[in-house]
Amino acid sequence: MSQTVCITGAARGLGLGYTEHYLQAGWQVLAVARKAKEKDSLKKLSQKFGARLELVDADVTQQATLQPLQKRWETESLDLLINNAGVLLDQHMEFQKFPLDTMRTSFEVNVIAPMAITQMALPALQKTKKPVVVMMSSLMASITDNASGGYYAYRSSKTALNMVTRSLSVDCPWLIAVALHPGWVQTDMGGSNAPTSVEESISGLTRVIANLRADDSGQFRNFKGQTLPW
Ligand SMILES: NC(=O)c1ccc[n+]([C@@H]2O[C@H](COP(=O)([O-])OP(=O)(O)OC[C@H]3O[C@@H](n4cnc5c(N)ncnc54)[C@H](OP(=O)(O)O)[C@@H]3O)[C@@H](O)[C@H]2O)c1
Repeated sequence: MSQTVCITGAARGLGLGYTEHYLQAGWQVLAVARKAKEKDSLKKLSQKFGARLELVDADVTQQATLQPLQKRWETESLDLLINNAGVLLDQHMEFQKFPLDTMRTSFEVNVIAPMAITQMALPALQKTKKPVVVMMSSLMASITDNASGGYYAYRSSKTALNMVTRSLSVDCPWLIAVALHPGWVQTDMGGSNAPTSVEESISGLTRVIANLRADDSGQFRNFKGQTLPW
């Protein structure tokens, strides 16, 4: 039987890259995106891969839209959850005038949503042999690496996500939870000056995920498999 992965933010950027990769590798893919059924990128993959791609129309911050996932996970199994949806809302914002709503929204999408979806997925993850939860983090979450400042909302929300990942790894030793940094990647978020293509990042990330072992749980790694400083 094929393995199942759930990917949030699946319609573009790294989420789309993950979706294509796992479909090509023969997995069953639950692709979560806002207006999923209207996204050309996902419609094309649906035509190519048929029933192996299931589109889930959901906003990760809206609990009600996630209900269908919660319901199916009461009975179905899930091998891999990739909490990929994320926002970077605070480029070039000074501390003095920093809009606090930007902090709230960033925490909603980057921390609370991955936590909520992982909570929902636990019963499904418990039904598989090697359950893995990937939190898409960033090197910008690293306190040790922060010499350039700024990005209060993005940095601190991803740092909080790292802590959630670490605690989850301790509290649920039956699963593997990791925080992964994809590199600086050519997506809408990363911009065109980024040195790493989506293909290169996804090839590295999926290799890292495939090679994860139980004692890797709670780690913070990049797409090359290197351990990053907290
Ligand atoms: N690109 C980089 O250089 C880089 C570096 C470090 C970490 N990361 C992390 O990697 C992940 C993917 O980044 P990316 O570069 O692919 O970003 P992106 O191109 O900006 O795509 C972000 C994705 O998140 C989805 N999303 C945002 N808010 C959502 C919500 N409320 N509900 C559902 N989906 C939502 C977007 O969906 P819509 O299409 O509906 O807006 C989109 O699919 C993020 O967590 C990001 O922080 C990226």
